Amino acid sequence: MTPDFVLRRLERIHERGLHRDPPIVETADGVRGRVRGRDVRLFCSNDYLGLRTDPRVTAAAGAAAERYGAGSGSSRLIAGSLPVHAELEEALADWLGVGGVLVVPSGYQANLALLGALPERGDRIVSDRLNHASIIDGCRLSRAEVKRVAHGDVDAVRAAVQPGSFVIGEGLYSMDGDRGPVRGWASAGGWLLVDEAHSVGIFGPAGRGVCAEEGVEPLARVGTFGKAFGGHGAFIATDAGTRDLLVNTGRTHIFTTGLPPAAAGAALAALAVVRSDEGEDLRGRLAALARRLRQGLRGLGLEPGGDEDAPIVPVVLGDEARAMAASSRLLEAGFYATAIRPPTVAAGTCRIRFTLSARHGAADVDALVDALGKALDEPG
Ligand SMILES: Cc1ncc(COP(=O)(O)O)c(C=O)c1O
Repeated sequence: MTPDFVLRRLERIHERGLHRDPPIVETADGVRGRVRGRDVRLFCSNDYLGLRTDPRVTAAAGAAAERYGAGSGSSRLIAGSLPVHAELEEALADWLGVGGVLVVPSGYQANLALLGALPERGDRIVSDRLNHASIIDGCRLSRAEVKRVAHGDVDAVRAAVQPGSFVIGEGLYSMDGDRGPVRGWASAGGWLLVDEAHSVGIFGPAGRGVCAEEGVEPLARVGTFGKAFGGHGAFIATDAGTRDLLVNTGRTHIFTTGLPPAAAGAALAALAVVRSDEGEDLRGRLAALARRLRQGLRGLGLEPGGDEDAPIVPVVLGDEARAMAASSRLLEAGFYATAIRPPTVAAGTCRIRFTLSARHGAADVDALVDALGKALDEPG
């Protein structure tokens, strides 16, 4: 029996129009699938390069599982790392040109490890107001003082920084599709930490991310395998000494089972594509699709958010009801793109967040624009 207090809380979530009931999504290629009994084109996955269903990546996952087992058996601090963990960390360090990489089971845990371990009591963390929930939770875990500043406001960061402060922001903002001002942050003083969850694999030379694009070397950057790499897991790229400190004090690394071998094997295969000429072609296709979608949306009189070449394309619609209505009309028309509501975004800024894959075609984008135009034209 569900307790009364749970039912009351669920009721409040329903009353505020914030209840979520994610559907089953069947898909073979990540861009076409079946949702709630309909054949649809998918526009909300973070599988930007289409690597999630790439046979080279899935075969590497299978091979690593066969060789090393389904799981890693324990925390890496208890049972040691597997050769595939070490191979992946070396390959990532080589790609990014850094002295130390620590692979962890998820991007969420990477931010908690980083913020829980590096800033201490008496330090200050300066955090952009639109930072992801995992950064907010990492700040909560830390004993440092947290100062939140307006989104993208470098002057506010500069004013908030004290000797020894940590500054944290994102390479590409997950719900807004705009790059963080990493160069401005780097010049503000303090130790810079950048979450590149949505920008590694997508921007910069060989897909190394926004810091590489801007020539900025933060103290640490976080990347995830759950988005452009099409798999699961994450990494923290830093120097050898900071990696050592994270291994010894990063609680979400110490007190959790190591990344499964299959995920590490998949990430190695995905990295090979990301850093290759093929990866460059995929990034070019993705950027062209992003420009095309934004242009189409402007043709409807809408103002899509984000940077022109970014594969995250938000259309802010206002309240929950309007965003939900647009999303369900799109589904009826054969397009799956979720309405994003609080607490993921601020009240009054509910949106449809379209995400693109290099596997989409120009015709998919045009059809989406056409369907959205009709969905927004309908009364009610
Ligand atoms: C900016 C940002 N950081 C971290 C994460 C967490 O990454 P992961 O899905 O690997 O836990 C996400 C996405 O979920 C994200 O958008």
